Amino acid sequence: MKKNIVVIEGDGIGPEVTRQAVKVLNAVAECFHHEFHYRYCLMGAVAIDKTGNPLPDETIDASLQSDAILFGAIGHPKYDNDPTAKVRPEQGLLKLRKSLQLFANIRPITTYPSLHHLSPLKTKNLEAVDFIIFRELTGGIYFGKKETNAEQTRAFDECTYTSEEIERIAHLAFKQAQLRRKKLTLVDKANVLETSRLWRKIVQAMAKDYQDVAVDFLYVDNAAMQIILNPKQFDVLLTENMFGDILSDEASVISGSLGLLPSASVGNSSALFEPIHGSYPQAAGKDIANPLGSILSAAMMLEHFDMLKEASLVREAVAWTLNNGFVTKDIDPVNFYFTSTIGELISDYLVGKISGDDLNKENIELRKSTII
Ligand code: IPM
Ligand code: MG
Repeated sequence: MKKNIVVIEGDGIGPEVTRQAVKVLNAVAECFHHEFHYRYCLMGAVAIDKTGNPLPDETIDASLQSDAILFGAIGHPKYDNDPTAKVRPEQGLLKLRKSLQLFANIRPITTYPSLHHLSPLKTKNLEAVDFIIFRELTGGIYFGKKETNAEQTRAFDECTYTSEEIERIAHLAFKQAQLRRKKLTLVDKANVLETSRLWRKIVQAMAKDYQDVAVDFLYVDNAAMQIILNPKQFDVLLTENMFGDILSDEASVISGSLGLLPSASVGNSSALFEPIHGSYPQAAGKDIANPLGSILSAAMMLEHFDMLKEASLVREAVAWTLNNGFVTKDIDPVNFYFTSTIGELISDYLVGKISGDDLNKENIELRKSTII
């Protein structure tokens, strides 16, 4: 198969982790005789530096024409503590989501037994944790009217949802639940917010068309607590934009490292894949960041292309690195491997240069970091 992929490396550790995912995609292309064509585009702080615009039109056009977008990370500390900055890197990502109508952000939360010790939760609460968050991505308070008055004494952000916006993502979440453990939890704040009451009404009505899915409802404050107390109760969690932003970061620490988690943002035609970690500027350029979030995002991209065997082979390779202690510094601060080494190991595994049995550990040991 031939696919055109837009690559947006972005800021901070974005470039170095994305390069590992591209290595892995190239290995997949080699094994399975696919052709992946890449077009590199700008977005974020790096785009502001080069063009003055966090999202140049060229990036939107190329993305609209692509089969998928692989994205690294966005953000730079020089904008973080300046609330008066007129242009910010994040505006690029928000505009891209809106321009491509990427209305559903999908974040799977999986746990790996070899990483249980890194989780803030006790092992007994981690076994069998496997859920997916469906976060609405192009509506709500993120995109409502926002204003500060001339005296700078009052500000507002409006939160609006339409039934169409709710239904289109809810359909995706229901369908996903049908393929999984058939449970859908809507997270809202229907005891306070009008928009939440609309979400609840619509999801309740839609449940009649998905009789095989058990639906329940949780207020967001309770959901925040339940994710920590008993995360294995969840299967598919559906929620609006800002609640989803907050809960998905909370849920991401369960697995032990934020660096591991992938995400997909999909619409009716475009799709973007990115690790959920941020730009982690302190690690940029040091070859120490965890590339697995990006590599697993590439696996989600392969699934989106209906390359299911390819995606599961990438996941197998990732699990192989974790099980054999080939991990980055976030996972093992003493015996760690470089970002680029992990990318190479996974690519080598995919093309069959490494097989589980005749693993030449000594050769791999040579690629271990000597900086402790
Ligand atoms: C995310 C991020 C973004 C968001 C930021 C960078 C605008 O936190 O993708 O979750 O809030 O949506
Ligand atoms: Mg976020």
